[in-house]
Amino acid sequence: MATPMMLIRPGNPGFLDLEWGRPIDEWQGGRRVEMPEGIHRHPVVFVAYPVGVYAIKELPQRAARHEYEMLRMLADRTTRTARPAGLVERRWLDPDTEGSGAVITRYVEHAFPYRELVTGGGFGGRRNQMLDAFAGLLVELHLAGCYWGDCSLSNVLYRYDAASIAAVMVDAETARLHSTLSSGQREEDLAIMEYNVAGGMADVAAEQGLDLDRSDLALGEDISTRYRSLWDELTTDLIIGPDESFRIAERVARLNDLGFEVDDVTLQPRGDGSDRVGLSVAVGGRTYNSHRLRELTGIDAAEGQAKQILADLSYHEHKFGGVSATGKAVATMKWRATVFEPLIAQIRERHPEADPLQAYADFLNYRYVLAVAAGHDIDNDEAFTAWEAAGYPGYDPS
Ligand SMILES: Nc1ncnc2c1ncn2[C@@H]1O[C@H](COP(=O)(O)OP(=O)(O)O)[C@@H](O)[C@H]1O
Ligand SMILES: [Mg+2]
Repeated sequence: MATPMMLIRPGNPGFLDLEWGRPIDEWQGGRRVEMPEGIHRHPVVFVAYPVGVYAIKELPQRAARHEYEMLRMLADRTTRTARPAGLVERRWLDPDTEGSGAVITRYVEHAFPYRELVTGGGFGGRRNQMLDAFAGLLVELHLAGCYWGDCSLSNVLYRYDAASIAAVMVDAETARLHSTLSSGQREEDLAIMEYNVAGGMADVAAEQGLDLDRSDLALGEDISTRYRSLWDELTTDLIIGPDESFRIAERVARLNDLGFEVDDVTLQPRGDGSDRVGLSVAVGGRTYNSHRLRELTGIDAAEGQAKQILADLSYHEHKFGGVSATGKAVATMKWRATVFEPLIAQIRERHPEADPLQAYADFLNYRYVLAVAAGHDIDNDEAFTAWEAAGYPGYDPS
């Protein structure tokens, strides 16, 4: 059997047992699994290994190498792109043919394609969240210097992230990385997105035999509007007076609240003879809460989940009397051992397939609603029993 040239990132299988001598869509082997997928140009298959499921996409060698490199570089800059696992080159084939290269990515777990959000031609109750997530992804990529060039409904996957939805980029074939993007490049990317999204919505309507209303065809424009308001909020410079230092902390807190890291704060004299200064902020990835949670507890969660779990930690820290720095460290360990882990274990036992951190976030939400209704704190055991009896509201383990 022909063996291709392969670049594999550490922590992944060798993929040598796959039938590289044949086109991927002719593979019969036992590793192949069926997964939901969006509309696509290139052949894509999914394979399961003990460490997880992978997506394999065949494409010409040069395009495969480019996509692999893009995903590798993006993985250092954001957490919202599919993780590359390997690059494959079938060097016995003409490098321009479709099957001469392949990119292997880690399957994005607990995510779903946009079609699953579509209810009756629109996006139902999730519409706002889905559009915000889509716009937020583009903002984050643009902040990282990534021009996408093919942003579309099919090239994004969605994942529940605590009470909201997070979007993940899966197709980076046309992406280009720069140190920063000009506003012309950003506008061009938005125009491509609007065009693609309108096409995607028209496909959905045709498939389901529905008439589209105007708002659905203008979905892309709606995403652009949300994109612009978030972009402005993140990048607009402020002018502050000498007695307004508090506004620096206020701005950083607001950005952190949106989940964005703040890399640098720059204060620059206005040079107009006044004592006012310009305040500009270099915004990093949307990982503020997930980094904090990982640093404090070692738990890896998505951004929105991390924010809710941190709130649970500080609630218990208070209860466990974590006042001093040592007290806080002890309270964190106590929380993990006596609150967090037992609950996660209970959730895993009941829903082994589901994302336990998402369930934890939904449970926290339920506990909060109970406490508000009761007018006092509800302890975890009581809240969990009530949550279970009510059929896990807020949580969709499918
Ligand atoms: N890593 C992944 N995790 C989950 N689904 C994936 C992954 N990679 C691809 N897919 C699914 O396969 C489809 C096609 O992949 P994509 O990279 O967009 O191929 P193409 O370049 O042919 O458009 C996507 O719409 C998505 O549903
Ligand atoms: Mg695609």
